[in-house]
Amino acid sequence: MTTVYPLESTKAHPRYDFEGYRSTGKRSPKRPLVVLPHTHSELTGPVYGHDTVRPEDADLTRQHAGEPLGERIIVHGHVLDEDARPIPNTLIEIWQANAAGRYRHHVDQHPAPLDPNFTGAGRLVTDDKGYYRFVSVKPGAYPWRNHPNAWRPAHIHLSLLGRSFLQRLVTQMYFPGDPLFPFDPIFNSVEDESARARMVSSFDLENTIPEWALCYRFDIVLRGRNATPMEP
Ligand SMILES: [Fe+2]
Repeated sequence: MTTVYPLESTKAHPRYDFEGYRSTGKRSPKRPLVVLPHTHSELTGPVYGHDTVRPEDADLTRQHAGEPLGERIIVHGHVLDEDARPIPNTLIEIWQANAAGRYRHHVDQHPAPLDPNFTGAGRLVTDDKGYYRFVSVKPGAYPWRNHPNAWRPAHIHLSLLGRSFLQRLVTQMYFPGDPLFPFDPIFNSVEDESARARMVSSFDLENTIPEWALCYRFDIVLRGRNATPMEP
């Protein structure tokens, strides 16, 4: 049986090879893709579930003895299908730089401080309404040497897993009004302007907690004309 997905989905996603985003030239396929049939174990193998995901995994400010430096934020929203139906039980994993724009990773050696109270990774499973909510600190911009004076706009990476490891989607969430948007080849590798806008969260004053944290809303649409752009 062949499943036909809406064509609009594919328009939202960036091309494998995007001029200006240098590393795509090295990793993008140069020949037509070969479709490999999925094996039974790939389709039915276990993924993480409620057993291994703890409630505190969704709060990146409470993973160490002290609190991380930076602007405390709440990021929340729904995971939805093309008809705006909620997708429950989706494992969402996030990773991000700290408030100074540095990842806790050996490859990241740019001279911004690490924060002993911030790892920068979190996860949760969407509830029966497809809803998710993370607490973190706003990540800083960071340089990435793609071109002279290249800086990434502040962003959070998100991975979404469905019922198997093969059903994995990866995207990035940005913050509204970032002055670096016009200069970022990764952001602009999504060529459709309205699709780019769907990677930008909206400021959510209503759910901002007074005296404690700003809030941003980011709904993730898995396919269809309102699909959130996903990385190839
Ligand atoms: Fe990043």
